[in-house]
Amino acid sequence: MEIIRSVDWMKQASRAAQAAGRIVGFVPTMGALHEGHFSLVRAARQQCSPVAVSIFVNPSQFGPGEDFEKYPRSFEPDRAALQELGVEYIFAPAVEEIYPRGFATSVRVEGISDKFEGKSRPGHFFGVATVVLKLLEIVRPQFAYFGRKDAQQARIIRRMAADLNLDAEIVVCPIVREPDGLAMSSRNAYLSDEERRAATILSRSLAAVRDKIDAGERDTALLLEIIRKTIGSERLAQLDYAATVNADSFESVDLLKGNCLILVAARVGSTRLIDNLLVEQHDNRLVTSL
Ligand code: PAJ
Repeated sequence: MEIIRSVDWMKQASRAAQAAGRIVGFVPTMGALHEGHFSLVRAARQQCSPVAVSIFVNPSQFGPGEDFEKYPRSFEPDRAALQELGVEYIFAPAVEEIYPRGFATSVRVEGISDKFEGKSRPGHFFGVATVVLKLLEIVRPQFAYFGRKDAQQARIIRRMAADLNLDAEIVVCPIVREPDGLAMSSRNAYLSDEERRAATILSRSLAAVRDKIDAGERDTALLLEIIRKTIGSERLAQLDYAATVNADSFESVDLLKGNCLILVAARVGSTRLIDNLLVEQHDNRLVTSL
């Protein structure tokens, strides 16, 4: 395994692999790796060799007053885990390597970037799209892997890849959860013991909605009311938004039909958490995945 710090070296390594007829897979991350990230690496390893993983805490996707400075960083354990998983390249550039003096470009995926996470975190998705485009251009993978945990991010990156004719195929992988249902996230490390117990309220509210859908409910106003009530019952949690959207357009829907996502964002203590439930239409049946 090689640890690569420079853009030029990363470009050279992955272009050489491709010239040799190999299939490059890529998993972009901000480090503080957990099973959610590892599931993407395993999916990449099944389809690709070599696999490159980037570890880069991207300042341009953090708003003022957000947690860029205190975002968890744990390079050594991350490195050891990625080696164990058979990753060939870790791309871990310094901030100045990605954003040298005079950097002036921003990628904006219009429309979908302004709502939900984008509304709560203005500019966040412009920072994400900009860095992901740069990373995809540096690594030029055939396949790039993202988690459905960040469903809106994954949709924006798919949109960008299609709009800009990128070669990378964007693969979206399922949400990996803790045994009690909490979606894994680097930010879970911020939770106190009491908040950690309270944080399961997000997945519990979505599980209640899933059970209603499995029992035949299609009215999204009723489903969202379940989320509001469930999260409202947890003293330490404060709902930011709950929404039912079309999985492609991220437009709100009144009745479940086609492929939809039920999105939830809430603050537990001072930590902001997100989660979602996927509802897919197969013929006349709706199939739910938490
Ligand atoms: P980060 O939060 O480190 O996440 C990296 C990837 O892991 C994302 O695609 C995210 O959706 C996925 N992931 C995180 N938790 C997951 C879980 N519990 N189950 C499945 N997948 C999970 O997302 C980012 O970094 C950044 O925005 C990035 C894309 C790297 C751009 O800076």
